[in-house]
Amino acid sequence: MKIVIRNNSNEGSLWAAHYIARKINEKAARTSEPFVLGLCTGSTPIGTYAELIRMVKAGEVSFKNVISFNMDEYVGLPVDHPESYHSFMHTYLFDQIDEPAENIHILDGNAKDVEAECAAYEEAIVKAGGFDLFLGGVGEDGHIAFNEPFSSLSSRTRVVTLTQDTREVNARFFEGDYNKVPKQALTVGVATVLSSQEVVILAFGSKKARALKDAIEGPMSHYCTLSGLQNHPAGTIVCDEAAVGELKVSSYRYFKAVEAAEKF
Ligand code: GLP
Repeated sequence: MKIVIRNNSNEGSLWAAHYIARKINEKAARTSEPFVLGLCTGSTPIGTYAELIRMVKAGEVSFKNVISFNMDEYVGLPVDHPESYHSFMHTYLFDQIDEPAENIHILDGNAKDVEAECAAYEEAIVKAGGFDLFLGGVGEDGHIAFNEPFSSLSSRTRVVTLTQDTREVNARFFEGDYNKVPKQALTVGVATVLSSQEVVILAFGSKKARALKDAIEGPMSHYCTLSGLQNHPAGTIVCDEAAVGELKVSSYRYFKAVEAAEKF
């Protein structure tokens, strides 16, 4: 696992956007196969998406041959609800880039048969060729996508029940009303994310410090599902100084030294 530590979230967001664009461009230069990208929601990726939009408009990268799959969606929230992840993605990314509509995949939280929806999602990912890169965030309790604590690290796309903690944290998007936050979601599994050739996780701010400590220094455990990244050959966490505030000084120095040596 690599940890890219930047001074603030803006610098971290730029790093991630440029990294993703470079990966898309590198694949486009060697093959006509699409770049398969996993995407996330939340306040954290907004800066990365803004920079990707700027790069598309400036002709520095194109999403014309990108196929994307979002991580998760609430169950039962209308697609056009301002806090649905469909709305979020169109507002903060899709409506402003050149990704063809048919290449965009987001789980349908209103599907009549949610289990069939989840199985079809996994099949569509395989049909697309599997993920080249999965961009994710992390919850304050270390959850990745909506894989709450005690989700199996070998989990796949499925319906899940959200923890009280997550609903309380996400109440800020629902007029501060915990009761308005859906109780369930559809989410890719930990193993779905880890099936990607590369995983890039964004984590900004001191609220993510405990999650990063558990994920980086703790044991690989279903208690902190991001810790599954320890078992991935190409996992990177992009964070700011505040988010690594609970790492041991020796861990912090190690990751800084690796980055200085490798200049990635
Ligand atoms: C939700 C999403 C996660 C996201 C997390 C953190 O739980 N399902 O994918 O990583 O929120 O959100 P934020 O970036 O707003 O802190």
